[in-house]
Amino acid sequence: MHTPDWVAQGQPHIWLPYAQMKTVTPPLPVVRSHGSRLELADGRSLIDGVASWWTACHGYNHPHIAQAVRAQLDAMPHVMFGGLTHEPALTLARRLAGLLGPGLDRVFYTDSGSVAVEVAMKMAVQFWLNQGERGRSRFLAFRGGYHGDTFGTMAVCDPEDGMHSLYRGMLAEHDIVDLPRDDASYAALDHYLQARAPQLAGILVEPLVQGAGGMLLHEPDVLRRLRKLADRHGLLLIFDEIFTGFGRTGTLFAFEQAGIKPDIITLSKALTGGTLPLAATVASNRVFDAFWSDNPAHALMHGPTFMGNALACAAANASLDLFESEPRLAQAQALSVALAAGLEPCRELPWVRDVRVLGAIGVVELDNIIDREALKRRLVDAGVWVRPFGNVVYLTPALTIDGDDLATLIRAVVAVLRQQRP
Ligand SMILES: Cc1ncc(COP(=O)(O)O)c(C=O)c1O
Repeated sequence: MHTPDWVAQGQPHIWLPYAQMKTVTPPLPVVRSHGSRLELADGRSLIDGVASWWTACHGYNHPHIAQAVRAQLDAMPHVMFGGLTHEPALTLARRLAGLLGPGLDRVFYTDSGSVAVEVAMKMAVQFWLNQGERGRSRFLAFRGGYHGDTFGTMAVCDPEDGMHSLYRGMLAEHDIVDLPRDDASYAALDHYLQARAPQLAGILVEPLVQGAGGMLLHEPDVLRRLRKLADRHGLLLIFDEIFTGFGRTGTLFAFEQAGIKPDIITLSKALTGGTLPLAATVASNRVFDAFWSDNPAHALMHGPTFMGNALACAAANASLDLFESEPRLAQAQALSVALAAGLEPCRELPWVRDVRVLGAIGVVELDNIIDREALKRRLVDAGVWVRPFGNVVYLTPALTIDGDDLATLIRAVVAVLRQQRP
């Protein structure tokens, strides 16, 4: 198999994500993408089953986004957001606020999901400080949760998760509990908060799906309970929709399925249709008003260099155009039906513990995966790009994946899982 020079020459200088560099399977060199396809340097074409960590919701290289980014590149790729502003950023803020609806009104831009969550946490802590309430520096977050890789966000992830447990002694302490899935656990959490609320700034949760923590689903009722608890105990409610936002769960935002709203929401991943890094933390006017003051110390002290990047905002505006002009939510619903039917045969395999589907997310949970690298190789040999983690194999393809590619993708996953215990 031909290995391009740039691989041989660059590989000794690269450090890969979440990888033991000594034993990791070398990454596959990709030279082109289109639709739901990744073209490899050796000429192979893989069907992408995960849309590049859930970002490429319209598939790769959508011409409408490409054209918008090209035009923006000619006009102005980037200017600092401190003291300057521009049309793509303000238009995007207006459109996001319009889509999220009243109660999610003010948009703060960052350039990654983790930092968007950091900003949400800073907003919540300072919301109380600006009103003279000291000591509310902790968050209530949930087992199975994942909110990012920075020091602030690692501290609100599942503490047992192998990804971050190494850093435990260095992380801020928060209250990590089970999601209140039924009346009894709701009552227990209510009781717990009676004592704990004065030390908490807010409640942080991924609505409907805890993604990187294991693709764990919960009912919309859990979110309604959390809204009730936040209101009863005077806490801010933060929804991390970095994974779920923009159609992934079948509605544009996951919170719509619960009929309630958070006080702060974080968005990233599919915000630019998977083209450029951008994230947004959107707060209610009530949160924002706590910062509106004659006191300069009440300002939100945050401002990444590439905040509000014009190219990324242009891409995000173009992505929102596509949600308006193309039937993305109907495509997500159709994907849901196809994933549920297609993955169902996995349920009969003795090493499969559960098969579950929500929106355009299909999950096969195994008892365990003995050799994950071998499983990945077998999936690639079957012509699909799927990245199992922990004990789950999941599919989150582009919402636009065509019927033939989807059928091939699902068939390949089922066949590989059936062949032998992974
Ligand atoms: C729900 C959620 N929050 C936060 C993050 C962190 O985003 P990023 O990797 O862009 O920092 C992720 C990433 O997977 C996520 O799924």
